[in-house]
Amino acid sequence: MSVKSERRDGIVVLTLDYPPVNALGVEVLTDLAAAIEAGSRDDGVHAFVLTGANGAFSGGADIRRFGKPWPPTAPMLPEVIESIERSEKPFYAAIDGVALGGGCELALVCDARYASPRSRVGLPEVHLGLLPGAGGTQRLPRLVGAKAALDIIVSGMPVGAARAAELGIVDEIVAGNLLDHVCRVAQEAPAGTRRRVSARRSEAQPGVFAAVRAKLDPVERGGLAAHRCTDAVEASTWLPFEQGLHRERELFTELLHSDQSRARIHVFFAEREAVKIPDVPASTPVARIDRACVVGAGTMGGGIAMSLANGGIPADVVEAEPEALARGKATIERNYAASARKGRISQADVEARLGRIAYGTSLSAAAGGADLVIEAVFEELDVKLSVFAELDRACKPGAVLASNTSTLDIDAIAGATARPEDVIGTHFFSPANVMRLLEIVRGAKTSARSIATALALAKRIGKIGVVARTCDGFIGNRMLAHYAREAAYLVEEGALPQDVDRVIEAFGFPMGPFAMGDLAGLDVGWRIRKRRSAQGMTGPRVPEIADRVCERGRFGQKTGAGYYRYADGDRTPHPDPEVESLIFAESARLGIARRTIDDAEILERCMLPLVNEGANILLDGTAIRPGDIDVVWVYGYGFPAFRGGPMHYADMLGLMRVFESLRALEARLGPHWHPSPLIEELVASKRRFADLAADEAARLTMEVS
Ligand code: CAA
Repeated sequence: MSVKSERRDGIVVLTLDYPPVNALGVEVLTDLAAAIEAGSRDDGVHAFVLTGANGAFSGGADIRRFGKPWPPTAPMLPEVIESIERSEKPFYAAIDGVALGGGCELALVCDARYASPRSRVGLPEVHLGLLPGAGGTQRLPRLVGAKAALDIIVSGMPVGAARAAELGIVDEIVAGNLLDHVCRVAQEAPAGTRRRVSARRSEAQPGVFAAVRAKLDPVERGGLAAHRCTDAVEASTWLPFEQGLHRERELFTELLHSDQSRARIHVFFAEREAVKIPDVPASTPVARIDRACVVGAGTMGGGIAMSLANGGIPADVVEAEPEALARGKATIERNYAASARKGRISQADVEARLGRIAYGTSLSAAAGGADLVIEAVFEELDVKLSVFAELDRACKPGAVLASNTSTLDIDAIAGATARPEDVIGTHFFSPANVMRLLEIVRGAKTSARSIATALALAKRIGKIGVVARTCDGFIGNRMLAHYAREAAYLVEEGALPQDVDRVIEAFGFPMGPFAMGDLAGLDVGWRIRKRRSAQGMTGPRVPEIADRVCERGRFGQKTGAGYYRYADGDRTPHPDPEVESLIFAESARLGIARRTIDDAEILERCMLPLVNEGANILLDGTAIRPGDIDVVWVYGYGFPAFRGGPMHYADMLGLMRVFESLRALEARLGPHWHPSPLIEELVASKRRFADLAADEAARLTMEVS
């Protein structure tokens, strides 16, 4: 049974028990409805207490069921909630752990809510492109006021027990035995009286809704769900309760069938699938990380040290040059102070985190005591090789040796040690203490233990780990190279950086490729291009506009100029006539007659290289599944989550259309547009990327070759 029913002196305790998070699917709702029905008919039952097993009240509606047919005989969540609403007997919620989405709505229909101190409640549906569809938008504003309800529903951020009690969502925080306490309350309550939230009024100050809407992303830029959440809460202020529920249902149904919701739900599951590695079972032993060492106190090293400290891991930052070390330390301190100033963390947190970071100039001294070393030195193979040779001498057996390289071959780096099984790539994204992605790169000899340790590390420091096999650029930067090259070709042919960036931003990225280059620093790419050209790498012609920009010392925001010009202390990009002259000269040098390029062409030529290279990345096994690529692009590069990542986007466009566009571009612009054999194969078998099982594309290639 997914709901356990237990009698305690006239009280029925109903415990949701459906691991892992007591999601409210067909089974739970069927059992719950039956137990409520039985208890309601029983004259010996005075009240109900709802609670959950598995350390959770409930994680909400079963998201896996969305879009699938619901058995006609099984009750749906709104019906079960309605039966509680209509019951003459009171219901009490005993919340220990999360009560999210439908789980929170189940608690809201109860007469009162009691929570353990560690509990969290919230309505996170907006993150799935939805709204709370089982009364949440009508009951929460009646309980806490429309303004507070809007904050919770539109942000989707759960609140802790203390805040929930302050707001009045939770009636009491219970530190001792929660269930005993709630049963006692239920027993002592007068029989036959109900305290229904629906009987209250939802009120808002004038202008509240307009002010919230003004801050939301536009509907077409991912804001659909947030706007509909606002509409639904607003309806609670002027419609009677029943009609408000009806309105909520209409808006929920609209969202459930929207592309934005499909894409966000895809990202939710892709994120959770990504940590499942076929040859690294969940039982794989994980190295215990009590102390880490970060080699390099530059921007990346500092950010990585902060990530570790934020996750509670003490770390030594090592930098041979004392001045560089002092600069790195000052930057870390400044960043934490800024977070405290903005109210993101408390002063006590700042001190605790700073206390976890130590600084030194001796690599062997710091690395010797570490269970994990993350190297974040200059992106040059020779420099990394010498660091890893030294780590091999200094580190204790079993320490995991990670490189924060963004493009280099992990096998080559591992070759500098006598322990290649312990060597792995952990590619952080800048700013490393903020960006959620951790691209974990396995070499040919990297052990399952090292991979499992890196995945566990990602979770511990609040990042999303995605595993890639080593190759030039791994998943993210390998695709980025194709995207950036095409953006540069567009500029050579007639567009300007601001045209390309405008189109990409309208698509939903926070910034276009040129503004992103300026933010990341153009010198990094310049160095990589020089290395590639020295190695005589083949492939399509490399556009040289970026080199012309770098040759003038324009490395992006950090030098006040890159593709754009920046005023002191301001990150706003201003188009710069100097760059336009460079671009015009470059087009002339190449003998290109510049032309007007429309937005549709810009978008197609920037997005399809991602899709095509993503498909090749699946074929050669660099990525395990299309969803992994989507997670990399959503969390590492700002691909709009409401479009689900490049591979999901291609599925939404239709692979036949993608294939035909690639063929047309190949005919017009050259062989670098040749469609990936995987796309051809999927089109032939009338499948989508979403139909591919883990590693299936790579297995297909192996069978063929
Ligand atoms: N439905 C189905 N499966 C769910 C789920 C849900 N609501 N919530 C979590 N899961 C699954 C995850 O997919 C994962 O499955 P696998 O182990 O097979 O990958 C498993 O539960 C554990 O999830 P996490 O890895 O995320 O575990 P966690 O401990 O880090 O976090 C959590 C737990 C806080 C509940 C988190 O999973 C979460 O935020 N879940 C989503 C909550 C949510 O959005 N609820 C609203 C649902 S929509 C709704 O309720 C609509 C409505 O109003 C009718």
